Amino acid sequence: MTATIPHHVAIIMDGNGRWASSRYLPRLAGHKRGLDALHTCVRHCGDRGVKVLTVFAFSSENWSRPPDEISGLLDLLANALEREITPLHAQGVRLHFVGDRSRLSPKVQAHLADAEALTAGNDRLVFNICFNYGGRWDIAQAAARLAKDGRAITPDSLAGALALAHVPDPDLLIRTGGEHRISNFLLWQAAYTELYFTEKLWPEFGPADLDAALADFARRERRFGKTSEQVRLALAASQRQAA
Ligand code: FPP
Repeated sequence: MTATIPHHVAIIMDGNGRWASSRYLPRLAGHKRGLDALHTCVRHCGDRGVKVLTVFAFSSENWSRPPDEISGLLDLLANALEREITPLHAQGVRLHFVGDRSRLSPKVQAHLADAEALTAGNDRLVFNICFNYGGRWDIAQAAARLAKDGRAITPDSLAGALALAHVPDPDLLIRTGGEHRISNFLLWQAAYTELYFTEKLWPEFGPADLDAALADFARRERRFGKTSEQVRLALAASQRQAA
């Protein structure tokens, strides 16, 4: 049986702070190592044939963290943009920033828009960076836009107005760092997503860990509300059609 590679992988990159604290380092050192892990992960996703990667880099709730950690994360984003945009572009990565940009400085907003414009023609891997994002914010902003345009609010219209409407729903959601919750990430989109939790802290999450998550995903049966028998019959029919 050929392994099923998820089209869209989403990741909650948790554990940077604990990784740093256990080494008597400032929390920001953990976020820096987390950025290195992200760099490796993007490359590995592309190599494995994942087509969309969506990561939670800063949540709507993270503004309540200590001010120096917030400014450190904002600087990390700005520096990462400057340093990584050329190699990402060379890898065929298309960047999208997902979230409420209004609290970011005009300079960072301009950098985000430039990065998106530069990579708009790439199609090897769509890379969504959720920054100042929250699932509740997303559903509320989508509903508000529909209401403003006088459109009916239905599951389809709402899905089309969400900040991630440019990609299909995630197939696999990985959370590192040992917690078993969604933490206001992709609330709408994760309705049928396979969840994968690992104790590994994000800075230590490497290619072998991603492969373990992909292997676990390949063993799942995705039923989308159907019975196991219906799924097996549909699979057999599609295999007959492909033969
Ligand atoms: C959660 O770990 C992680 C974050 C809030 C930030 C994630 C950011 C990165 C991986 C690097 C930055 C990426 C960009 C694109 C700027 P935590 O701090 O909650 O860890 P803890 O649970 O151990 O305290």
